[in-house]
Amino acid sequence: MATASAPAKVHLIGEHAVVYGEPAIIASVGLRTTVVAEKAGDVKFADSKWPDKGFACSANDAIGIAKKASGLWNECNERRDFTPLFNFVKADSSRNYRKALVGIALSRLGITGGVHLSAVSDIPMGAGIGSSAAFAVAIVKAIAAEYGKHVTDEQVNGIAYEMEKIIHGTPSGGDNSACCFGGLLWFQRGSPNIIRPLQQAHKLENFALVYTGKPEKSTGELVQLVRNLDEGFRNERVRKIGQMTHEMIGVLKSKDYSRLKEIINDTHKNLAELGVSTEEMERIASEVKAIGGAAKLCGAGGGGMMLCWHEDVAKLKETVASLGYAPMKADLAVEGVRLEKHF
Ligand code: MEV
Repeated sequence: MATASAPAKVHLIGEHAVVYGEPAIIASVGLRTTVVAEKAGDVKFADSKWPDKGFACSANDAIGIAKKASGLWNECNERRDFTPLFNFVKADSSRNYRKALVGIALSRLGITGGVHLSAVSDIPMGAGIGSSAAFAVAIVKAIAAEYGKHVTDEQVNGIAYEMEKIIHGTPSGGDNSACCFGGLLWFQRGSPNIIRPLQQAHKLENFALVYTGKPEKSTGELVQLVRNLDEGFRNERVRKIGQMTHEMIGVLKSKDYSRLKEIINDTHKNLAELGVSTEEMERIASEVKAIGGAAKLCGAGGGGMMLCWHEDVAKLKETVASLGYAPMKADLAVEGVRLEKHF
């Protein structure tokens, strides 16, 4: 039996823009998904959050569903419309998604047997803090360890990226990289992706996460919504976010907190203009700004988590609480994927 866990992630800056080649700065978050894998003849999956959504199938079925999802991905990518793929993976209460993940892991790791998996997670699902990426990374690490496959974290990350594609369409790869490697990362997609650890240089203080509830749309759908915008309108905002991401590095180093706040608030404004904010998020953003702080939506947006910053964290938490939200306590830049147990 092998147990692996992976952390959540939060974009300090760069979400959505990173899909169009701009850089992002992403921190891992001290909320984890833990997966237990046990060799078996067939495939079984149990999730403590959804006991009724478990399943059992053969390894061949899981691999078949993974192949179907990957074929659909190719068709959808040609049309630049991932709706048929999203409908397929959401089918049967998203069991197709989980079966495809197992199928991808088994085939990419060259495993012919099956596996029984169970998962527990502290990460709210679809909240913009990498629940699917942490899940993907932890599954690969646990299955590989259970079958004695010696894979590097880079290989784990590559397989997790294939898994992210079937649920997000054209993910940048930033989420799975942050959940896999942990710490604080500079991420820019390309051939190859640029993934640079920044953890040693910066200490992340005074941030708070505020959960506003589960978004109605998935990350893939929100990425698609941004893709469907007028190209000129979108690119102008994407470029602005990219420029601020470059600037953010110096700002974090020099602890220029007044510029840090301007950048966070301006990033949120640009993301809102891209259509991925909500009324609730706008209210939090404007109240936090009114007390001299900063707030931005996280990940794909459309609800989910907000990242807030203030010199006076107690004041920030008080303001957020007065709006009816409980700020979450979570460490940033924690360890990435790790094997917890193997026996
Ligand atoms: C989602 O957490 C972040 C996005 O930029 C999508 C991606 O990078 O794949 C919206």
